[in-house]
Amino acid sequence: MARTASPATQARPGKVYLVGAGPGAADLLTVRAHRLLAEAEVVLYDALVGPDLLSCAPQARWVPVGKRCGQRSSAQAFINKQLVDAAHGHAVVVRLKGGDPMLFGRAQEELAALRAAGIEHEVVPGISAAFGAAAGMGVSLTQRGLSRSVCFLTPAVGRGEAGHDWARPAAAADTVVLYMASRQAAAIRDGLLQAGIEGERPVALVENATLPAQAVHAGRLDDLPRLAERLTGGPALVVLGDVLQALAACGGAHACDTYVRVDDQQAAA
Ligand SMILES: C[S@@+](CC[C@H](N)C(=O)[O-])C[C@H]1O[C@@H](n2cnc3c(N)ncnc32)[C@H](O)[C@@H]1O
Repeated sequence: MARTASPATQARPGKVYLVGAGPGAADLLTVRAHRLLAEAEVVLYDALVGPDLLSCAPQARWVPVGKRCGQRSSAQAFINKQLVDAAHGHAVVVRLKGGDPMLFGRAQEELAALRAAGIEHEVVPGISAAFGAAAGMGVSLTQRGLSRSVCFLTPAVGRGEAGHDWARPAAAADTVVLYMASRQAAAIRDGLLQAGIEGERPVALVENATLPAQAVHAGRLDDLPRLAERLTGGPALVVLGDVLQALAACGGAHACDTYVRVDDQQAAA
């Protein structure tokens, strides 16, 4: 049953739910996320939350608070304040975050702000983009015999944050998934090569994972900048590892209508 209260009558703050929206497709929301969206009075949502999700909470006020690389962003402190303010006026507030809230989602800052303000809160997990991409490609990230470890990493750092040696953990893992990396393909390739990863290591760019516009561009690490030229501006992951051999084995056909192997294209040209 929805907890509802008008701003005027609500005596104590409401509850804020940090909800994972999954990688984009509305039917990849969890049942709990669906229920909470149906109860929400306000939804503060990220830039990567798909428009299809609006229909899950037509009764709610939707407030964009998205941050997207290279685009104007809402400062995190302002988002934190908006969350706290929303809880003071509404019983059920959903903070809808792309993928899973706890992976590269600044959830900790938001949780800390809610805790400091004495606002009740809860985290609802979602499907992270890495799992959407693995499903979309039909490639297990931990195929037996090829991969016993997966590293989720991002080379991105926030404004004012010190740089970090992002490539080092990549060299130690069997499978690597890089978030927020596809726009700097040459630098990513160079960093991974310098970390000791061979140029022949299979790599794939997965754009718009789980969405109708999903595209997979596969090749070798050496090719990464060329692969990245095919991206159309949607969110994308870089996946690296021998598990991607499975893509070649199925001709890249599994759920990858727009699969392109750059070597093949070049040979055909
Ligand atoms: C700020 S991070 C948020 C990650 C999110 N919390 C998650 O668990 O997926 C945003 C990055 O996730 C990746 N991403 C999100 N949705 C995606 C999708 N549908 N397909 C491919 N990559 C996606 C992209 O690398 C994008 O730059």
